[in-house]
Amino acid sequence: MATQKKLPFRPIKEIEESIRKRLSGVKHKVAVMSGKGGVGKSFVTANLAFALAFKGYKVGILDADFYGPSIPKMTGTEGHRVFATDRGIIPVVGPLGVKIVSVDFMLPDDTTPVIWRGPMLSNAMLELLENVDWGELDYLLIDLPPGTGDAPLTVAQMIPDITGAVIVTIPSEVSQKVVMKSINFAKKLKLPILGIIENMAGFTCPCDGKTYPIFGSGGGKKIAEEAGVPFLGSVPLDPRISECNDKGVPFFVEYPETPAAKAFLSIAEKIVEEIKKIDQSKSREETSKGS
Ligand SMILES: Nc1ncnc2c1ncn2[C@@H]1O[C@H](COP(=O)(O)OP(=O)(O)OP(=O)(O)O)[C@@H](O)[C@H]1O
Ligand SMILES: [Mg+2]
Repeated sequence: MATQKKLPFRPIKEIEESIRKRLSGVKHKVAVMSGKGGVGKSFVTANLAFALAFKGYKVGILDADFYGPSIPKMTGTEGHRVFATDRGIIPVVGPLGVKIVSVDFMLPDDTTPVIWRGPMLSNAMLELLENVDWGELDYLLIDLPPGTGDAPLTVAQMIPDITGAVIVTIPSEVSQKVVMKSINFAKKLKLPILGIIENMAGFTCPCDGKTYPIFGSGGGKKIAEEAGVPFLGSVPLDPRISECNDKGVPFFVEYPETPAAKAFLSIAEKIVEEIKKIDQSKSREETSKGS
């Protein structure tokens, strides 16, 4: 009879301390999430990372969507491999020097599925948080799977000094309701919300130059106002985005002059500003505690 392997018990404080040490060279850790699937979280994570790297920041991406990793394809790093050294797991270096870790870089090929139950997934996440050698980074973006399950929970609770979350939505009413779940999840876990990004916001038709609001318009801003969190900006629909993803070419690098790529530069600026505000209020709190 097969015996079940028991994992050695480790106190949470010990794991937290080990993650804190491991990520001590990473200034800001930002989770990218949404209650809803397919709204463009992975696309936003990849292109936001490139926009930040383009501005001169040192950036990393942790692909925390173990069941459906899409970061390798969106960053043009499919088929690459991470390798383990005595310093830890060394990330793949993608375009613009963005360091990337995805479970896909550890599987025999990109059609092998990950078949893990929740606790195994959480353990694998902790392993990555404790063992990847990111070196010095300004921003580590964490691409989460949809919803508010094991992966977002592990990331929000086990990264001791996580900076905050960016929430992605699309303009439709249905998406707004589900996104509110992510907002409330972040609030419950005291995870600061850096803001909301509205993706797939309108399509400018090349034939007549008119913009069509395919999924409605203004939904992202509305929900940001309702929730009292910053609105970071909108990214339009562009057929070249899917084309790039299918070919495994990074969109931001391939089409830097498009409205969508430019939107990421402006969103990146806003995120940097929001993080500065959080850092300032933290240091004010620390000063007032000390006095
Ligand atoms: N602004 C856009 N214009 C055109 N296509 C887009 C846009 N944003 C995302 N897409 C496409 O939509 C699909 C879903 O995007 P993506 O995989 O980033 O969503 P997701 O929220 O991460 O999905 P999941 O919930 O499965 O993780 C992809 O094929 C992507 O290329
Ligand atoms: Mg995704």
